Amino acid sequence: MNLLNRSLLTLKEFSSDEIAYLLDLSEMVKAEKRKKIVKQRFLGMTLAMIFEKRSTRTRCAFETAFGEEGGHPVFLSTDDIQLGAKESIEDTARVLGRMFDAIEFRGYKQETVEILAKYAGVPVYNGLTDMYHPTQVLADLMTLKEEFGYLKGLKLVYMGDGRNNMANSLAIGCAKMGIDYVIISPEELFPDEQYINEIKEIAKKSGSSITVTSKIEDNIVGADAIYTDVWASMGEEAKALERIRLLTPYQVNQDIMDMTKNKKCIFMHCLPAVKGQEVSFDVIEGPSSRVWDEAENRKHTIKALMLATLGKA
Ligand code: CP
Ligand code: NVA
Repeated sequence: MNLLNRSLLTLKEFSSDEIAYLLDLSEMVKAEKRKKIVKQRFLGMTLAMIFEKRSTRTRCAFETAFGEEGGHPVFLSTDDIQLGAKESIEDTARVLGRMFDAIEFRGYKQETVEILAKYAGVPVYNGLTDMYHPTQVLADLMTLKEEFGYLKGLKLVYMGDGRNNMANSLAIGCAKMGIDYVIISPEELFPDEQYINEIKEIAKKSGSSITVTSKIEDNIVGADAIYTDVWASMGEEAKALERIRLLTPYQVNQDIMDMTKNKKCIFMHCLPAVKGQEVSFDVIEGPSSRVWDEAENRKHTIKALMLATLGKA
């Protein structure tokens, strides 16, 4: 499978087979890491990491994955570089493209990461925008595959803000890999209908379904995984109180886990979490929780993505 020079902007641009290949590669690099095998596949290479927003997992995953393969990752906060102040995205992209082998971007607008990809001439990876968080979904798919051994036919229920970057990106990942996807949220936070119709077209190819509903009881039975995310995403701090009002009935707690009627149902969260808000303390800290595996898998999937797109797989 040849993914040389490809960017990851939404995950729509990768086929099911390509995602499956990246997941296999992720498994391989995870096994290497466990055995302490050092390969230095990025020796002599550089990675630009642009951050407009805070990050623990994404930054550390990119930085350590690239660094431990012998590459040199460079962290660029937009508080320090010219981007967004004195220099356009197009010009920044062209300059960085001359100095780096690849670029990671985390920030607000999806348009920014798309312009970077258009002008840089090197692979660009979306490390989260307001619209999408594709590298997180790769880690989540890996975690599901580790848990169940397969993806096609699983049922993943996402509860919470139905129109944030995680809800949007999980829809793509599930549709591509044949996972039935249910968004349970209050109507005020339903995803855009046009977006869901677009994803339904992708789901048709894999034979999976996508459901959007505000009714918990009808749609949660048989879930293999319950996923949630913060109620107010980065940049939405002013909406926090309103979100608590809307989303309190949608907290993932033990009653919700029991409503799945599936003892093997796991709990997932991209993290960071507000314990006691979108998820109860006992669920995130309990035996069904796989949140630390998801966090670890960020690194293995991101390493696999970079190996494949930089021709080092
Ligand atoms: N899940 C995730 O992207 O975490 P960070 O914001 O810490 O990178
Ligand atoms: N929806 C969250 C995800 C954090 C990884 C946010 O954008 O803040």
